[in-house]
Amino acid sequence: MTESGANEGQKRRAAESAVAAVEDGTVVGLGTGSTAAAAIRALGRRVADGLDVRGVPTSHAARRVARDAGVPLTTLADATPDVAIDGADQVADGDLLKGGGAAHTREKVVDTAADRFLVVVDASKRVDVLDAPVPLEVLADAAPVVEDRVGDLGGTPELRAAERKDGPVVTDNGNLVVDADLGRIDDPEALAASLSALPGVVEHGLFVGVAYEIHVGTDEGVEVLEP
Ligand code: A5P
Repeated sequence: MTESGANEGQKRRAAESAVAAVEDGTVVGLGTGSTAAAAIRALGRRVADGLDVRGVPTSHAARRVARDAGVPLTTLADATPDVAIDGADQVADGDLLKGGGAAHTREKVVDTAADRFLVVVDASKRVDVLDAPVPLEVLADAAPVVEDRVGDLGGTPELRAAERKDGPVVTDNGNLVVDADLGRIDDPEALAASLSALPGVVEHGLFVGVAYEIHVGTDEGVEVLEP
């Protein structure tokens, strides 16, 4: 999980903008993905300057970035996040699609447990209407059934394949991921309810009405949206 590739500067600016809002003595949810990693590294720099925080990682990857960055860690069992900082794959009208890194279940738990959830994205993530496939974390045995149900909803399911491993992606929780292409998502709240109701779906990647602020990095600076 490195901060490299396209829009690196935009990601870094969004990350630093959100991290500037972190206060001394607080607990911070640590998101997953390249933009969240930039935020964890920025938080680490503030820790090196004397900031007292503890982080709750949302994945093995986030935990590793935090360790390397020198951010002290805790767990949800021991502390409730005051703020969470996490990326997104698409943002529209304050709603999010997440799960490109297959971490959306723990991300949703940590991000929504926080008093304030700050989203960090580069400008390419802003869209008029969410329309990317919705990641579904599913119990392995349930995957064929969930795929059928996605078809019943008018969508096209695809079991996410691993890279550098034969077979499917296995999440940090030991489950599989079905990406459900449902076209334009004109009513994210209704779709979220339908997906949550499918037996075998542990969590879906629609984050509806949970963002406190969205920090959008641009080439010129940062735009902060307040949904
Ligand atoms: C992880 O499962 C995702 O929800 C990430 O938060 C999302 O994919 C954003 O990642 P990038 O910041 O790397 O685009």
